[in-house]
Amino acid sequence: MRFGHFSDAAREYVITTPRTPYPWINYLGTEEYFGLISHTGGGYSFYRDARMRRLTRYRYNNVPTDVGGRYFYVNDDGDVWTPSWAPVQAELDHFEARHGLSYTVITGERNGLRIETLYLVPLGATAEIHRVRLTNTGATAKGVKLFSILEFNLWNALDDQTNYQRNLSLAEVEVDGSTIYHKTEYRERRNHYAVHAVNAPISGYDTDRETFFGLYGGWNAPDAVVAGHCHNSIASGWSPIGAHQIDVALAPGEVRDLVFVLGYVENEPGAKWESPGVVNKAPARALLQRFSTSEQVDAAMVELRSYWDDLLSTFTVDSGDPRVDRMVNVWNPYQCMVTFNMSRSASYFETGIGRGMGFRDSNQDLLGFVHLVPDRARERILDIAATQLPDGSAYHQYQLLTKRGNHDIGSGFNDDPLWLIEGVAAYVSETGDLAILDEDVPFDNDPEDTGTLFEHLRRSFHHVLHNRGPHGLPLIGRADWNDCLNLNCFSETPGESFQTTENLAGGSAESVFIAGLFVHCAPDYATLAEAVRAPEEADRARRAAAAMSAVVLDHGWDGDWFVRAYDYFGNKIGSSECDEGRIYIEPQGFCVMAGIGVESGEAVRALDSVGKILDTDHGIMLLQPPYTSYHLELGEISTYPPGYKENGSIFCHSNPWVMIAETMVGRGDRAFAYWKKIAPTFREEISEVHRLEPYVYAQMIAGKDAPRHGEAKNSWLTGTAAWNFVAITQHILGVKPEMEGLRVQPCLPAEMTKVEVTRRCRGAQYRITVANRGESGSPRLAVDGQPINGTVVPYGPAGSIVEITVDC
Ligand code: BGC
Repeated sequence: MRFGHFSDAAREYVITTPRTPYPWINYLGTEEYFGLISHTGGGYSFYRDARMRRLTRYRYNNVPTDVGGRYFYVNDDGDVWTPSWAPVQAELDHFEARHGLSYTVITGERNGLRIETLYLVPLGATAEIHRVRLTNTGATAKGVKLFSILEFNLWNALDDQTNYQRNLSLAEVEVDGSTIYHKTEYRERRNHYAVHAVNAPISGYDTDRETFFGLYGGWNAPDAVVAGHCHNSIASGWSPIGAHQIDVALAPGEVRDLVFVLGYVENEPGAKWESPGVVNKAPARALLQRFSTSEQVDAAMVELRSYWDDLLSTFTVDSGDPRVDRMVNVWNPYQCMVTFNMSRSASYFETGIGRGMGFRDSNQDLLGFVHLVPDRARERILDIAATQLPDGSAYHQYQLLTKRGNHDIGSGFNDDPLWLIEGVAAYVSETGDLAILDEDVPFDNDPEDTGTLFEHLRRSFHHVLHNRGPHGLPLIGRADWNDCLNLNCFSETPGESFQTTENLAGGSAESVFIAGLFVHCAPDYATLAEAVRAPEEADRARRAAAAMSAVVLDHGWDGDWFVRAYDYFGNKIGSSECDEGRIYIEPQGFCVMAGIGVESGEAVRALDSVGKILDTDHGIMLLQPPYTSYHLELGEISTYPPGYKENGSIFCHSNPWVMIAETMVGRGDRAFAYWKKIAPTFREEISEVHRLEPYVYAQMIAGKDAPRHGEAKNSWLTGTAAWNFVAITQHILGVKPEMEGLRVQPCLPAEMTKVEVTRRCRGAQYRITVANRGESGSPRLAVDGQPINGTVVPYGPAGSIVEITVDC
């Protein structure tokens, strides 16, 4: 069942009922100011850091689930309603929410009044616009009272929700005409404040929450709205809000626009005050001037659209199937950009106060946006590398504002360092910018201890070689990619963190997954070594990878699939010897991607086992059978009920590894079939089962052992976005930038007979036409009409257009 449809021309998802199976959200903002917005107007906003600079308040896991946002209420002669349906939930004659690229439009109509609100954050502004368009669709004149409302957050989101003995005596505001200024803590160390304004005279306002709602009132029926007038309250402590009242008269057919602005404003520390106790409003006035007319808002929309036009023209496909094209051309790269901006901080599943930037996650996210914003990817790489520790290990997380490693979590996740190699290799392949390898980058942000970026990669690579266990496989440390496989932890204390608890000394648990990842990144690492004129290091890397492959085949092969790990005691995990957790997805994907067992047959066998044991109608499960009880020696993975999260869900992040692996053995049909199972545009038809947004990937879909098999959780901020983009574009459609040239090696399903791709890379434009005549055989390429050997097309000069035809 669907709850809306795609509008491909507008690049929007159009939701046609407020009663979606879960709040379906979108993101506003592309630079420094961001907002989350659900299809019924819920959500919140922040400047740069969702925890430290939160502008508006939102309460997670609420009842009903999504309440708190930027809302407009109507009192039409006693009839109270909200055009976003929530929070009043009065039935609407018409409802529509359109989520587009960094903007949302929500329309509600009732009793002859249509209200369409456009929400966006203009480029170059630290503010969001809510343009409210009121249309009298009836035959008689209308006089209504319109109220705006949002609740201010006292900046630090964690403190805001926990420290009431202080918070409830802090709030301060000013009101000047139609502008409400939120200035809590401005009297002391802050030099920033928020504004909430409208470009029209108002007939009232409220800034004190209790006055507006009533102590016993709620979002569904605020006292002021029901009474039909605000009280011009000035917040003093308690909870500050920004509410305007505007009395609107509309003749039949008349349309009126109101432009509301919610902005973040900073003053120079020396220029905070206009007069004692009165904030300097000059920058706020300048900001409001920029968005004081509807035409200015239209112009901001045009700019925003062309920003996305430009980004999305980097890669386009015409596959003949709109479900493929809209995913690849629009929604997947859009989600990748959101993961670039948010990392794992703020979504409807991440509260914005928890996890900062993950070392591993950020490097993987980069694979999905490096082609869109290469300069920003470069900066990101250097920031990440600067948190690496001198011995090559890495802080597991770092903070975006400080760019420092997070001491609370520390290091010891032994896959982390290798992801830096994957990220840098992708960046250099995309851009050809070898100079980045010579950049001087600190270790642990210590300016006294620096090395070239290549030296960082060298330490990453050797960190694995220096940390091997009894079988010669990499030691897992706290965990590897699977954060919940905590093999040295042995935690017996309720509530203790599996990620930070002191591990048992002498832990020698080993990871076959890290071995696969090591072998996978070795060829790129060797090529980068050659680029910095270190041929011996390149040789060493290639030999080390060959040796590691042999170790995997000796100690990491179980007969029908790759073993997952060895535990603290040297017992196998992910083996037919086990009762539960007999087979895991990760090593099947990554070992095959690394080429292990491709020649000798283990690869196909492993992938066949995945197909037989782990595959479901909703995607590939992480493991089978799931753990039915807590295992001290395994850690967090066994804390989840069977079928959820790492304990046997369809963990979508790792599915694309199997898709890529299938293309490694030439099975495009299988690769594509796996992709379709988790691609949101293909799951749109079963939205009542999937429940989350049909335009972005979710991290997890419940596995077959969970009662809610097929139900997704944790949409938006997941490495699933980047890896699926890599799988579909670089391996199935087969267009992959490499160091030497653009590899064009499609591995298509039979149903895709003709495909056209355009790809911008290193300043040239590649136009690729693929004729698919079957699944097997090596593709034959012609470049500008001339057949070439192999599948790597040398990069054309900047500004050139390169025509490529492929027969496969
Ligand atoms: C984390 C990843 C991790 C994955 C699997 C995600 O929640 O962000 O770093 O690889 O879970 O455990």
